[in-house]
Amino acid sequence: TIFMTKLIVANWKMYLTLSQSIALAKRISNFKFLISKLELVVCSSFVGLEKVGKVLNGTHIKLGAQDVWPEPRGAFTGEVGLDDLAELGVEYVLVGHSERRRYQGETDAVVNTKLRAVLAAGMQPILCVGEPKRELGSKNHEFRKAKNYVRNQLRKNLKDIPNSKFMIHNSPIIAYEPIWAIGTGRPATPEDASEMHGWIRKVIVEIYGGRASGQTEARPTRIPILYGGSVNSKNAAGFLNAPHIDGLLIGGASTKAEELKLILSAC
Ligand code: 13P
Repeated sequence: TIFMTKLIVANWKMYLTLSQSIALAKRISNFKFLISKLELVVCSSFVGLEKVGKVLNGTHIKLGAQDVWPEPRGAFTGEVGLDDLAELGVEYVLVGHSERRRYQGETDAVVNTKLRAVLAAGMQPILCVGEPKRELGSKNHEFRKAKNYVRNQLRKNLKDIPNSKFMIHNSPIIAYEPIWAIGTGRPATPEDASEMHGWIRKVIVEIYGGRASGQTEARPTRIPILYGGSVNSKNAAGFLNAPHIDGLLIGGASTKAEELKLILSAC
């Protein structure tokens, strides 16, 4: 592993009401954890951001959004803009989550636009990628189809985003979330996830090269890669100890205080 500090991102999706979100944020804000060991980001619903943000204010826990519209202001009925997120103190934004690709028909081109916008706004995008189907016999075939699928997504989503846009404080983060593992209780094995993470890093280097061209730029090889998909307190340690896994993106288990606490203590 190249990162000493694990990045743990809680994606609350649309699981919680506003009052439940506030209550959970209060419990989490009392967690004691070593900031040298982990960084925790909570992605509440848009509606929850302001009040959850207030609860987390003054703690080491960062605020994240689950999506964004890539324009600051304008005639975009029903959308939430980058300026709104900035005012609320949002530092991280999930981009291209498979549920948005699936239910909102978000294309790779839209994901690319959002990614640029979030980087330009100085926030950290968490780009979600992952193949739809579990590949049978993945061990034997080194899951070539899944790897090609993910490479294709990365190429399209990162298209024409120059390395120079990756500043040290806001380079993108990649989350590998195999769709078949999300919310199914059937996670990838840490070995397979780690293999895919190694592949993702290869693809990033293929796209950007291994070295940064300027001092203020983050190295593509230092982009954190998170695993997501049915992570819970029982399997978290396996992922956290796998060689290429820099952190976790957690859905369901992150909405239960005790589960999340146990996962954090595995860091
Ligand atoms: P689960 O942890 O509920 O499987 O969700 C994963 C996910 O999609 C996080 O973004």
